[in-house]
Amino acid sequence: MSGHRLLQGKVVIATHNQGKLREMRELMAPYGVDLVSAGELGLPEPEENGHMFSENAAIKAVASAQASGLPAIADDSGLCIDALDGAPGLFSANWAGPGKNFVPALARVQAELAKRGATTSDKRRGHFVSALVIAWPDGHQELFEGRVYGEIIHEPRGPSGFGYDPIFKPDGRAKTFGEMSSDEKHGVPDDGSEALSHRARAFQLLAAACLRLPQ
Ligand code: IMP
Repeated sequence: MSGHRLLQGKVVIATHNQGKLREMRELMAPYGVDLVSAGELGLPEPEENGHMFSENAAIKAVASAQASGLPAIADDSGLCIDALDGAPGLFSANWAGPGKNFVPALARVQAELAKRGATTSDKRRGHFVSALVIAWPDGHQELFEGRVYGEIIHEPRGPSGFGYDPIFKPDGRAKTFGEMSSDEKHGVPDDGSEALSHRARAFQLLAAACLRLPQ
């Protein structure tokens, strides 16, 4: 136990990705922490040149904590597809290009799977990973990781969420992330059981270590 907690004052969400920002705001809402995004503070986006999700999350969290003098939380996440040797993985955002257009990115996933003959469910396994790092201005940092396993479906389904949500169907569910409400995708159950999404699962670990519900 580090003694580093987020009980009062502002906390930076170190992202310029609106989808992630929305989810992080929803996850943090019950804790009464005053959130500000890196975009709102005008902080630059650092180069993500790590070789693991956790390294990139640390790069973003440390950059925001140092630039703002506030504790900062960063998520680095992506979709890893078994038949594509883990791609798009760390490059999940890059596959959408500078315009962040996921129509070609989703089409590329399908094309790469087709090239490898991955037509049946068992050959279309994948998982999302979220590495969440909190960094404090004094240099202390903590890492929390969440994963969710599922299948890459053939045709995108559902208007909700962001990124690869319309082609990812988590195990045990009939809907894709794109067909789920935000509560179904990343709601944290009151009974303390495990949330569904990779980001919510990482967040549950972070909350247990660093957050307290207001009395
Ligand atoms: P980065 O962590 O900013 O490098 O970007 C992560 C990328 O992974 C996002 O731009 C999305 O393409 C993808 N991604 C991460 N989490 C999710 C999710 O919950 N749903 C859909 N796509 C996601």
